[in-house]
Amino acid sequence: MFTDTHCHIYKEYYENIEEVIKNANENKVNRFINNGCDTLSNKEVIALAKEHKNIYAAIGLHPEYVDNFKDIDIKELIKSLNNPKVIAIGEIGLDYHYTKENKEKQKELLETQLKIAESHSLPVIIHSREATEDTINILKKYKTTGVIHSFSGSLETAKIYIKMGYLLGINGVITFKNSKLKEVVKNIPLDNIILETDSPYLTPEPYRGKKNEPARILEIAKFICELKGITLEELATITNNNIKRIFDI
Ligand code: NI
Repeated sequence: MFTDTHCHIYKEYYENIEEVIKNANENKVNRFINNGCDTLSNKEVIALAKEHKNIYAAIGLHPEYVDNFKDIDIKELIKSLNNPKVIAIGEIGLDYHYTKENKEKQKELLETQLKIAESHSLPVIIHSREATEDTINILKKYKTTGVIHSFSGSLETAKIYIKMGYLLGINGVITFKNSKLKEVVKNIPLDNIILETDSPYLTPEPYRGKKNEPARILEIAKFICELKGITLEELATITNNNIKRIFDI
């Protein structure tokens, strides 16, 4: 059985969450790390994790909404860490795709949350888009560990993160025709990757364009098995061991 290490299962995206979970279970996916992005979705992922044994919560303040956050959001975040189903701080990071204007504010928000992760001994789930250099330089300052979610960088960047002790989160992007991620994954040992869907986004081929869901981990897994010449069982064992190294689940 596989684990979807990064999804956003919110009521906003899915009419019938029970159905989504059932469909995942029927497709060899039995565990989920549901990621929040702001105070509202953080509360939602905690509530869902309370209802389901195999759903875990990661909570964090996403860089895309950096301009909306107040000190109270950080206080809420720290308070919520007491919940035993909260197993990571995420999704947090840097995103310079839409604007670089709030760069400094983004860095500050990321560092605040890395400090919290460090003091609570929690792993982090990092979003980094068009911000590789800053991400690496900031992560190096903290004794944190975790995953570089939706990794799609070069082999050289992959090796830097691996050396720093981070896992690479691989999702449907690897199945995209023009993606260079295949070459990267081909050239790194499998004990450095974990699988994720980033549902409802980044639907793998041949379903690209449709809404994504955790069941599609199986498509990503099949693709990687073909690439690396291993069986689904082997990949499940390796990736679940990798998860165990970082996350307390
Ligand atoms: Ni995400």
